[in-house]
Amino acid sequence: MKLGKLTKRWLCLALCVLLCGCGTVDTENGTPNEPVDEEQVSSMPEEGERNFLEQYEKDGTLPCLSDLYADNFSIGIAIERTDLSTQVKQELIMSQFNSITCGNEMKADYTLSRDKSVQYGEEDYPVVDMTKAEPLLMFASESGMKLRGHTLVWFSQTPRWLFAEGFSDDLNAPLVSKELMLKRMENYIQQVIEYCNENYPGLIYAWDVVNEAIEPSSTEENHLRVDENYWYEVIGAEYIEKAFEYARKYAEPEQKLYYNDYNCYDKTKTFAIYDMAEALKEKGLIDGIGLQSHIGMTYPSISDYEYTITKFGQLGVEIQITELDISQEDNSEEAQMELAQRYKRVFQMYKKLDDMQLADITNVTIWGFTDDRSWLRSKGGPNYPLLFDKDFNAKLAFFGAAMDDSIELY
Ligand code: XIL
Repeated sequence: MKLGKLTKRWLCLALCVLLCGCGTVDTENGTPNEPVDEEQVSSMPEEGERNFLEQYEKDGTLPCLSDLYADNFSIGIAIERTDLSTQVKQELIMSQFNSITCGNEMKADYTLSRDKSVQYGEEDYPVVDMTKAEPLLMFASESGMKLRGHTLVWFSQTPRWLFAEGFSDDLNAPLVSKELMLKRMENYIQQVIEYCNENYPGLIYAWDVVNEAIEPSSTEENHLRVDENYWYEVIGAEYIEKAFEYARKYAEPEQKLYYNDYNCYDKTKTFAIYDMAEALKEKGLIDGIGLQSHIGMTYPSISDYEYTITKFGQLGVEIQITELDISQEDNSEEAQMELAQRYKRVFQMYKKLDDMQLADITNVTIWGFTDDRSWLRSKGGPNYPLLFDKDFNAKLAFFGAAMDDSIELY
């Protein structure tokens, strides 16, 4: 897809920008939102963006990833609100991707309002406020993309007050009973799902219902994660099945319910996830497994990675690669060529498994747009793991992901 084609979308984009930038957004769940506190969306290209535009104009041949893989899977990108701050950024995202994941804005830390929960005054009803996700939902909707709902139930980025009596934010406040927590969980899941489906019908195609519930070092049955996991602490092992049960109850029939995790190729984890998903599938509660895939330059080996995807594929559930990035701390040309080769190998493997029907891979999502915004940087030190540099130039890694001939494999 070339930039010229994209300009046809400017009309709907302008509408999106207008709506993102102004006033209140009415919801239908009785939770009126605050005005969207987005920074102004600028129509002027920034320095790096001009480079990118020139690159397009020069050769006009930058392949479009989502077109390239259209016969196999959609190609997604995880973005945050700041990634939409200029029209050019929005255009660039639309030019390559056809699926969006909110990097943070649909996590419980962002969707739950303590003030509103306390104000509402019902112990079983934590109040959801989707204000922070709004600009992303609207962008995806107006630009004709689909969205992965990430994520409903996770031990991380979820406030402790959700589990505390009176929604207290006192770190020593007693936790509620299992019975009450199950009601809170159901009300929370219902509000998020219904908000999205009522305001953006047809937008969300997959929900990460439960994220990262398995920890190989755990001695609990099936290695369920215990540490710092209030869901487990308050509800017990049953929280996983209950989350899927509630999600199934409120999601549209065509929306796929996913279990999502990292380091799935660790064998202990592979088998624990397999067993858990098998039990959920027997009850008709799960449709897919998401492999986050924050991978390294050498770990996992392609064959171990392939084994895991194939193993999950044998369950007859869909597979998505939900958070792909490849940690590369070296930005030299040689190191970046190695990164490109690694991207090429993993994409070749995904395509092969899908072509051979060894796994029904329906989406591959890259976890971040430009290197300078990668979450890996917050883990310490520089990192250059993504497909675009800070100036929006397509890196060698981009051409690797596109399986381009210019990236030679030995
Ligand atoms: C990360 C975000 O990218 C960061 O901005 C945030 O500070 C921490 O979470 N697994 C997941 C994602 O499921 O939601 C995480 O995203 C990365 C690991």
